[in-house]
Amino acid sequence: MNVITMASRKGGAGKSTLTAHLAAFCHDAGKRCLVIDADPQGSLTLWHSLRADGQPPLKSGARGIDRALAMATVEGYEWVFIDTAASMWVVAQEAIRAATLVLIPARPGFFDLDAVRATVDVARERNKPYAVVLNAAPPKRGDKETSAVAQSRAYFERLDIPVWAGQISQRSGYVLTLAAGESVCEAPDTVASTEMSRLWSAVERSIAAINEAHAAAAAAQGEAA
Ligand SMILES: Nc1ncnc2c1ncn2[C@@H]1O[C@H](COP(=O)(O)OP(=O)(O)OP(=O)(O)O)[C@@H](O)[C@H]1O
Ligand SMILES: [Mg+2]
Repeated sequence: MNVITMASRKGGAGKSTLTAHLAAFCHDAGKRCLVIDADPQGSLTLWHSLRADGQPPLKSGARGIDRALAMATVEGYEWVFIDTAASMWVVAQEAIRAATLVLIPARPGFFDLDAVRATVDVARERNKPYAVVLNAAPPKRGDKETSAVAQSRAYFERLDIPVWAGQISQRSGYVLTLAAGESVCEAPDTVASTEMSRLWSAVERSIAAINEAHAAAAAAQGEAA
C-alpha cells in the first residue's frame, strides 16, 4: 500500500488542498484510493461530504493513524492519502512514520520556508523519503518562474531538501472546485488541472522508484541471509 502523508507545521500551507486534488487524480486513474482525514478541523471531511459520488472514500484518523491504515490494508486499498493538522504534531508524526512518501507543501515565503525544517527533521529521523511542494506560488511568467519561487528553491537547495521541480500556483480554481465538492481533475484542460496532474505524475514516479528500491533491498537481504 502506498501511503502519502501530507505534513507541515505551518497552518494554511496547502495540506488539505493538495490532498483533495491528488486523491481525486489517483481515484480518476482507476486506483483503489482512500483519504484519511487526521485533522479535527475536518476540511477533507467537509469536501468529501459535498462529493456527489462519495469517491474516493474517506476515513477519519481520529482513532489513530495505525488503526485506520490497518483497516485500509484489510480492505485492499492501493493508495492512501493522509491529511494531517499543523497543530497536532504527535498525530502528524505517526502519519509520517507510516508514510511511503511525505509531501511538505510550502508557500514561497520566508516564514513558510523555515517551518518546513521541522517536518524534514522528522522525515529524516524516520528515514522516510520526502519532498517539498511549492504551493500557492505566483504563476510563472511564460516559462519563467518568479523570483519568489527561484529564491525558495535556492533556500531548499542550500539545506539539501528535495523540492518538486514543478509548482502549484495560487489559482482560484483550486479553491472553487473544492467548495463545489469537486477537484481540478474534474475540470480538465485548465491550467490548474495541468499543474496538478503533473504533481500526481511526479508522485506516481517517486512511489514507483521507492518501491523498486525497497524490493531491491529486500532481495539483497534475502541473498545475504
Ligand atoms: N494553490 C492555491 N491557490 C489558491 N488558494 C489556495 C491554494 N492552496 C491553498 N489555498 C487556500 O489557502 C488556504 C489554506 O489552504 P489549506 O486549508 O489547504 O491549508 P492547510 O495546510 O490544510 O491548513 P491547516 O494547517 O489549517 O490545515 C485555504 O483557504 C485554501 O483554499
Ligand atoms: Mg488542512
